[in-house]
Amino acid sequence: MAALSDRHLLGLEGVPQKDIRLILDRAFTFREILDRPVPKVPTLQGQTVLNFFYESSTRTRISFELAEKRLSADSINFSKSSSSASKGETLRDTIRTIEAMKIDTVVIRHSAPGSAKLMTGFVDSNIINAGDGAHEHPTQGLLDIMTLEEHLKSLKGLKVAILGDIKHSRVARSNIHGLKTMGAEVMICGPSTLLPYEAEALGVHVSTDLNEALEFADVLNILRIQLERQTGGLFPSLREYRKFFGITMKRLNQNKKKYTIMHPGPLNRGVEIDADVADSEHSVILNQVLNGVAVRMAVLVLLTETHNKRKKKIDG
Ligand code: CP
Repeated sequence: MAALSDRHLLGLEGVPQKDIRLILDRAFTFREILDRPVPKVPTLQGQTVLNFFYESSTRTRISFELAEKRLSADSINFSKSSSSASKGETLRDTIRTIEAMKIDTVVIRHSAPGSAKLMTGFVDSNIINAGDGAHEHPTQGLLDIMTLEEHLKSLKGLKVAILGDIKHSRVARSNIHGLKTMGAEVMICGPSTLLPYEAEALGVHVSTDLNEALEFADVLNILRIQLERQTGGLFPSLREYRKFFGITMKRLNQNKKKYTIMHPGPLNRGVEIDADVADSEHSVILNQVLNGVAVRMAVLVLLTETHNKRKKKIDG
């Protein structure tokens, strides 16, 4: 059975195409299982997964927990606010304490970029990055790619515009790396203050003009304006942002193109996306959510298989 190149999933940067293909193929298999009357398999029976969330989340946390339950794994949920972290216990001490109770995989969300990688030096478990600051959110990138493949069949030559707050977006980074590896062409577009300094180095088209992005794209991946990270007055007002970058039906109809509309959530309706666009026939937002469970099932299983295969080799 084919294995992944690594037993951790820390980001999509540098992940080879064959690994992404393996994850997607397995995710499509699990997607079929999710449609069954009893959507549960015994694949990870006996495995324990820790959902280690140091930052709030609705979609990713519930999606991982559901994926674990669908695979018959035992899940433990950690949230910072109700733990001894609020008494000053360090990240290292916290995770080593929990690992001493025997866990196999840690799913970590943290506001610090690099926290998932740091974790690989503390513990023996497989580590899955569920979002580390503005760095990466690999399972979001994978579920977005899966949703595009499901709807548009092939990613080769597909033109995807990622719109909005690219600078603070881990979703944008994982999408850029994954989409490029799978043969898509990517444009990032937003106000210059919300584009990363290294924009050109990412190997994408860059624009500050929404009309240019609408001309270019088959797919619009609309990012959330991260209200909690906007401390520096990076644009004058939400009203002004909507005026120049908000996706409205009027804007979508101006080119007579059939765009596929994506958004990682949570949505600011009436800011970066209008309600009628989010709920329209062009939108695959809820498909993204469902595919997220299948992708996370695939990642959990493949990392476990990869780990077991390596252990078997070492044990002889
Ligand atoms: N897309 C995403 O990561 O959403 P949550 O913050 O709700 O997990």
